[in-house]
Amino acid sequence: MIEKNENVFHLRGKNISYIMSVNECGDLLHCYYGKKLRGKSYDWIKQRWIIWGGYASDKWTLDICPQEYPAYGYTDLRSPAYRIIGKNGSGVSRLTYKSHKITENAASEIEGMPSLFAGGKNAQTLDITLEDKNLGYEVVLSYTVFDEFDIIARNVKITNISDAQIKIDSAYSASADMPKDDYELIYFSGGWGKEREMCRESVPQGVKIDISNARGGSGHNMNPFVMLASKGADENHGEVYSMTLVYSGNHSTMLECDQYGGVRIMQGINPFGFEWVLDSGESFYTPQSIMCYSDKGIGGISRELHDVIRQNLCRGKWADKERPILINNWEATYFDFTEEKLLRIAEKAKDAGIEMFVLDDGWFGKRNDENTSLGDWVVNTDKIPSGIGGLAKKINDMELKFGLWFEPEAVNPDSDIYRLHPDWIVRTEGIEPAKSRHEYLLDLTREDVRRYITDAVCAVLSSANIEYVKWDMNRPMTDMPYNGFNHRFTLGLYKIIEEITSRFPNILFEGCSGGGGRFDAGILAYMPQIWASDNSDAVKRLQIQYSTSIAYPISSISAHVTAVPNHQNGRVTSLKTRGDVAYCGVFGYELDITKADDEEFEEIKAQVKTAKALRRLMADGDFYRLENPYTTNYCAWETAAKDKSEAFVMCAKVLSVINSGEKRVRLMGLDADADYRDEYTNAVYGGDELMYRGFEPTYENRDFSTQILHLIKM
Ligand code: GLA
Repeated sequence: MIEKNENVFHLRGKNISYIMSVNECGDLLHCYYGKKLRGKSYDWIKQRWIIWGGYASDKWTLDICPQEYPAYGYTDLRSPAYRIIGKNGSGVSRLTYKSHKITENAASEIEGMPSLFAGGKNAQTLDITLEDKNLGYEVVLSYTVFDEFDIIARNVKITNISDAQIKIDSAYSASADMPKDDYELIYFSGGWGKEREMCRESVPQGVKIDISNARGGSGHNMNPFVMLASKGADENHGEVYSMTLVYSGNHSTMLECDQYGGVRIMQGINPFGFEWVLDSGESFYTPQSIMCYSDKGIGGISRELHDVIRQNLCRGKWADKERPILINNWEATYFDFTEEKLLRIAEKAKDAGIEMFVLDDGWFGKRNDENTSLGDWVVNTDKIPSGIGGLAKKINDMELKFGLWFEPEAVNPDSDIYRLHPDWIVRTEGIEPAKSRHEYLLDLTREDVRRYITDAVCAVLSSANIEYVKWDMNRPMTDMPYNGFNHRFTLGLYKIIEEITSRFPNILFEGCSGGGGRFDAGILAYMPQIWASDNSDAVKRLQIQYSTSIAYPISSISAHVTAVPNHQNGRVTSLKTRGDVAYCGVFGYELDITKADDEEFEEIKAQVKTAKALRRLMADGDFYRLENPYTTNYCAWETAAKDKSEAFVMCAKVLSVINSGEKRVRLMGLDADADYRDEYTNAVYGGDELMYRGFEPTYENRDFSTQILHLIKM
């Protein structure tokens, strides 16, 4: 709900209020963000102006005023939310209120980029237009709120209304001068094989922290999601604010703790390597930043974001649908396969109850290793004599779905397409373009390149009954020819994905980028699931899936059972542990199932049955993290149905410790007055007992032991 009361804007979500006001001088000031206020009086806002001093007084300074979109160089000397250079060469700006508009039943739409949609929900959007009269541009700040969510989705549109050219040096999507508090910053850093490791730091006065990435995609190293938690806030208690960027390119979340102890946080496109020239009449849109608030700790943020992402970001029929259980041949064969071998894997997988066979890298051109053929999307009939159509048919005849891997954004130098179009790659004049994993990136800012990729991928998708696509992207971006290139590339990528996903609405798309190097809300808008990491070791996955689930729904986290010793870190864990960890995610296999002995095969069969029984819950349940694998020797999590009719619980003890006296695990989200039966043991527990007293997991006397419960309300 959005209310305008004199010069005060009051935005309300389910449990939140966000208040702004325009002062006598036209500055748009931030007044409040947190738990819902009734808005009985706004006199306290005027009181604050008096404390700040009158505008006519030289005591006045924007430096101490919380603002909505702070400018550069006009009394506020903290980090600005934007910097625009006018024809006079100056970036000094003064933005004042011009007009506003409230639109009912609509979410903000952003040209060229994905964003939250209203989807029949009660959404309202407020557009506030500010103007820089000196340099001649307008800045529209858009805010979308939903009656049933605790989020504020923000984006910015800048329009040049002057006759001269202007240049945007930076433009964040959202800026927030936070209510004064002792905050801790929580962010997710990492690298290949260790994506989204959870980091938590205090924010001392004077620091400037840039949680950012300039590697091309949203990155393995720093995820475009951050939280500010009131000191000591944990999973279930305390105030927490978060920001999620709906964007897949270079990003930045800049935090500054000023000399008065005020915290400013801004999120958007990374200003590093960015600039955008606007001719007269042209507009520029920032991506969307979703701000979320919870007074119920980090878990409150997660459950809110999971619902928002599943219900109002992920598009298409798969968004809230149970996903097929797949087997992928990558770790089973790598490049070394024949059609016969693939069919043997598929056959055995079918016997185990698996529902889809996915053919990964190596099916096209002459690709028998990483060096060749990327970009030549024509089947290699030496390896697959029946072609993709024929293979898909054989797989379908086994009553399995068929899925296929692509890496559409890249080419190998040794490819027909590169030999034909050497000018199509991302490169800077005069410098030998850098290769990474023997690849060049294609220049997606070019219409002809986009057309080639779209047509080539669509031709394959139309040629066979392909029901799933794994969309990979395996290298960082180097050789950017000019500032702002990364953003134009990202817009080009969205154009391609938009066209392909709308032409094939029945295909389930899965994002991937050298594992989880592009796990972001922008990709999730088109592809409701993403391969979380190439590191499929169950123990490391406890951490990766734990921290990924803080920002993203578990129905988006692709989790496969793979062979041991694990191919990435050599660890040996039991098949049970690998399965138990993968259930809370999009469950699948990535191993040579033909090598399973009878006992293993029976266990896989049982796991597939278990995963099928759980997947409805995983598609839309509420997720609770119960034990933190980053700070303890344990990990526990739970998915509970919204109507409390069932819950799945996984508990893990990483290292075997003698006499450790297992800590009780207390469940959440159950019906205290009901009894629950555990499907696996038939034991009956009271909902109250499980939530208030908890239970002591029984671990085996070995490393990496897990226990699972599937509780059904009686
Ligand atoms: C990336 C992906 C893997 C696999 C390979 C194929 O590394 O993350 O899952 O698809 O590419 O080359």
